[in-house]
This record gives sequence, structure tokens and C-alpha cells, in this order.
Amino acid sequence: MLEELGNWKRSDFCGEVTTEEIGSDIVLMGWVQRRRDHGGLIFIDLRDIKGVVQIVFNTEVDEETHKKAHHIRGEYVIAVKGTVNKRPEGTENPDLKTGEVEVITKELKILNEAIVPPFLIEDNSDVNENVRLKHRYLDLRRPSLQKNLILRHMVCKAVRDYLSENGFIEIETPMLTKSTPEGARDYLVPSRLNPGKFYALPQSPQLFKQILMIAGFDRYFQIVKCFRDEDLRADRQPEFTQIDAEMSFVDRDDVMHMMEGLLSRVFSEAVGVELNLPFQVLTYKESVERFGLDAPDIRFDLELKDITTLVINSGFRVFADAAKRGDVVKALNAKGCGEFSRKELDDLTELAGEYGAKGLAWVKVTDSEWQSPISKFLNSSEKETIAETLGAETGDLILFVADCQRIANTALGRIRIKLGERLNLIPKDSYNFVWITDFPLLEFDEDEGRYVSVHHPFTSPTEDSVSKLDDSPLEVKAKAYDLVLNGTEIGGGSIRIHNRDLQANIFNKLGIGQDVARERFGFLLDALEFGTPPHGGIAFGLDRIVSIMAGAPSIRDVMAFPKTQKASCLMSDAPSIVNKEQLDELSLKVLLGK
Ligand code: AMO
Ligand code: AMP
Repeated sequence: MLEELGNWKRSDFCGEVTTEEIGSDIVLMGWVQRRRDHGGLIFIDLRDIKGVVQIVFNTEVDEETHKKAHHIRGEYVIAVKGTVNKRPEGTENPDLKTGEVEVITKELKILNEAIVPPFLIEDNSDVNENVRLKHRYLDLRRPSLQKNLILRHMVCKAVRDYLSENGFIEIETPMLTKSTPEGARDYLVPSRLNPGKFYALPQSPQLFKQILMIAGFDRYFQIVKCFRDEDLRADRQPEFTQIDAEMSFVDRDDVMHMMEGLLSRVFSEAVGVELNLPFQVLTYKESVERFGLDAPDIRFDLELKDITTLVINSGFRVFADAAKRGDVVKALNAKGCGEFSRKELDDLTELAGEYGAKGLAWVKVTDSEWQSPISKFLNSSEKETIAETLGAETGDLILFVADCQRIANTALGRIRIKLGERLNLIPKDSYNFVWITDFPLLEFDEDEGRYVSVHHPFTSPTEDSVSKLDDSPLEVKAKAYDLVLNGTEIGGGSIRIHNRDLQANIFNKLGIGQDVARERFGFLLDALEFGTPPHGGIAFGLDRIVSIMAGAPSIRDVMAFPKTQKASCLMSDAPSIVNKEQLDELSLKVLLGK
């Protein structure tokens, strides 16, 4: 029943048959999207990478072929020879690129059969994602996913073209390597030849790209897989791809400028969007104070205000106490939300709670009094100054969080995003890029009881703040920059430390002793002694950039074979149990359940 291709050669892609070919004989090959049997006429939508075209089997054209077509089912792979025909008037399909034509089939080869697929291969079908991931080969036949992966390819091509033209050399770095500290857990790989020892899969090529600068390559890039064993969300995968770059003899502005050119080229070539350069720049402090987050979505306003000084003597103890103990009281005017229901307010309070806030105070501004559980604690002059600071008018809803800077800002920052979505304040199809600069170099990790790097330990402090390293380390600023697109961090980088003593000093501040530093990064410390050029770079999250360009809700939609929340691949069933011989060879024993 099944036939071989023989000497048949495809002449056209299904999705590319045009009215110009009317009257021509063509050869098509593809998958059967749909079959409609009208007795003497059988219609098939034939699909390939370029799209769908209608083919027609007519008893009057060729009885044998028509008879054979009865056997065809969905997802069969067939090849047809036929003539392009203008569709009879009234039967055109304006939704289809090839909707004005059809192919009258003269010969048919059934190249392969298919069992009934677990879901229809079409966009907008409401299929559970786990079922789609298990049968990813079928899922990937859907036009929207094919479009996403083609877009991804175009992005990669534009990246390679632009960086190559600008003197960057693509160099691969090892996958079996040592742990690089990007802040996540490592994926470990046991070494058979070195029992008891492990490689770590790279969280990023950070150390290697710095070493390539020391080696004199001047400009490096790589489109590279990185591995991080962290809790997953819509924009996080255990293995993801970075556009990783590094440059020698540069400062912060040089890297930022070069990368603006890169994104501009990528957007222009891949989606035909011309970006406005240069991108906006916000300092970390300003970003957090105004928008609550260090990856702000500035496509809409709705800014946070600090009202700490206004309420330090307030009768509302929650506010006054916070102000007196050095915490802050931040507020947000949800314009026109004075009609929010109790349930909506409870939901916002719950959201604030998820980010650590102990409560969410609210005020509905009405014509007469403030409608609020805290109204009675605030005197009229306090109300007036608060309303003035927030530009509050009748019909508005003011939300307050009193807490430490981090919690107050994050909680209200998240609420701000929620309100932006709820109130439709976020313009669709707009790309808003903003650089975030002047990050603190260090932060104090309460759990670990030590300073940790905000970026990574190789980030250079700024010249004018490095002297504070000993006395007030939290005030030291980093020569680091993140790039944020529509509220998502799409990239981050920095100018690096190129001086060995400073690097040792930073390790010291981070509580990484000399022995540990030597054991973990000894090769970098050694290399730093042999003439290191000033250098810096950046890495972009390719999956995140492409998902935003594609308007996809998750980076899973722009990855061919993504993993689930539990970091498993439902198609291949990885991770899986291995046999005892394999474990023995690796000198490993699984203790589970023992
Ligand atoms: P960073 O850790 O900020 O920097 O990573 C760079 C970018 O990679 C993306 N990203 C992720 N995307 C999907 N899933 C993940 N789990 C994930 N983690 C990160 C983000 C992020 O901005 N070596 C430094 C770069 C440098 O300093 O040059 C680094 O890796 O978009
Ligand atoms: P209470 O006096 O605890 O009943 O709180 C009165 C109101 O203040 C409630 O609406 C609480 O949600 C709110 N609230 C409590 N703690 C805080 C806080 N830290 N920041 C903002 N509002 C708070």
C-alpha cells in the first residue's frame, strides 16, 4: 500500500501555490490536514512547512486516483501530481494564502500512514499542554509553533550576522566544566574516569569568555545553552539559550551601544520593527523607587510614591511605627478604581502578601469622606497631603504598604503590574526597552549571613564607589547593566574586574576564602596575572527575547523541546532511572528509599 518517492521531485511547497501557476502541472508533498468526502469529489487540505493548499480528487479526472484517495486519513504523508486550477467562484477561502486556487490531482502516492493523532493539528485548539508536550512532534506541526521556531532562527541569523560584521568571533566553550556562580544550583555530571568527581554543566560561559579576552580574542560571542537547576516559571527553563558576548578595551557605554545596535538589527530583520535608539536608561534606585521592581514595565505610568515623611506622626500606628523604625510607607494611586469590590481588594491584599507584605491598606476617594478602614486614623491635613502627593481625585483607589524598602516596593510593584493588566493600560505590540544601571555591587543575604553579589563576583565596582568596599559595602555600585523589555529582564552584563588584587578582595568580602576561591576559580585567578585587558560583556536570554517577539505566553512556546515545571521532558521521559551497571561504572549508588 505504501509507496516510495521514486523519481518524483517536489516542484512547489503547498503553502506557496499561487494564482500565477494556474494551468501548470505541479508536484506537492505533505501531510493531510483534513479530508472531506463528497462522493465523486474528495477535498484534502495538504500541509507542509509553508502552509496549506486544497487538493481535489475527482472521479472524472482519474478514477483510480480518486479511488485510492478514499484510503487517506488525517496526517497521512502523501505526494500528488496535479494541475493548478482557479477555484470556482464562491468557493474561494480568503483565510488561506492559497485560497484562490486548488490542485486537481492526477496521480497520488501514499508515502506513509498515521494513526489517529491525540489532538487536531491546528492553532487555537484547546489541548492540555502536557498532552502536547508528550507528542511534541505533532504539536510542532502546528503553524504557530513552526512560525515561532522560524522566528527564532531568524533572530539567531541576525545575531550572527551583526556580531560577525562587528568583529565578534564565535567560539564554543565546554559543557563539561566547573561550576560557575550565577546564583542557581548546578546540574552535575559524574566522571567515569575520575570516580567521585563531577563536572558541572555551565550556568553560563562567564569564566571562559573572560579567559578568551585574556587570550586576546578581543570580541567573542556564542549562542549557547546554559543550565540552571532552579524553580521554574513561565520565563525560566532548566536549560535555556543565551546570546553571550564579551568585548575587550571597552567601558559600560561601549557595550550598551553595541548591544543596542544588535537588538535594533534583530528586530528589524526578524519582525520588521525599527527600534528607537538609544534605549532609555534608569538607575536601579530610580527603577525600584518609581516602579517597585528592577525589571520595570514602563509601557504605562502608575508610579509608586513614598509618603513616609507624611505619616511619621500619623494616628495610624502601622504607618507611623514603620516610618519611625526606618522602614517606608509607599503608596500607589489606582486611578479610577474606586469601585473595586471587596473581593478585588482581597485579591490585591493576597498578592501583596505573596511578596511579604503584612497588609495592604486602601482608601477609596469619594466626593465627601475617604472610604477606608484607616480613614478614621488619618487627620484631614494628612489626607490632603497624601491626596496631593498621589494626585488623587474622586473615584480613585489608593493602596499603601508599610514595610522595609524591598517588601514595600516589590509588593506594590507587583500590584502595579496586575493593575496595568486589569485596567488595560499596557499597549499591545509595543516594545519598550530600558537599561537598568548603577546596581549595588553587593547585597546582604540574611539566610547565609554574608554579602552576596547582585550580579556575579567578577563584576567591577565603579571607580567612585570602590573605596566604600571596607566601610559601607552596600553602598558600592557595580558597573553592571540589565536590559529590560516590556517588564522582562532579557539581558544582563557588566564590566569585569581585570585586576587580581581587587578580585581577591571581592572574594574576601563575599566570604569566599582564599582556598575556596583557588579551588573554584583558580584558573581565572591565575589567568588574571598574565596581562588581562579591561573587558566587559553581556548575555541575553534568547528564549525570552523570541517569546516576547512572538507574543507567546511562555518561553516553552519558542523552544522545540522544552521541559515541564518539574524539569522533565514528557516526550523522551527524561530524567529517568539508569541501570545498575551504569551506576557502578560511575561509582555511584542511589540511596532513594533506603
Ligand atoms: P544572567 O544570569 O543575568 O547573566 O543571564 C542572562 C540572561 O539569561 C536569561 N536567563 C534565563 N532564561 C531562561 N531561563 C532561565 N532559567 C534563565 N536564567 C537567565 C535572562 C538573563 O537576563 N554570565 C552573565 C552575563 C554576563 O555578565 O555577561 C549571566 O549569565 O534573560
Ligand atoms: P489592622 O489595624 O491590622 O486591622 O490593619 C488595618 C488596615 O491596615 C488593614 O487594611 C491592613 O491590611 C492594613 N495593614 C496592616 N499592616 C499593613 C502594612 N504593613 N502596610 C500596609 N497596610 C497594612
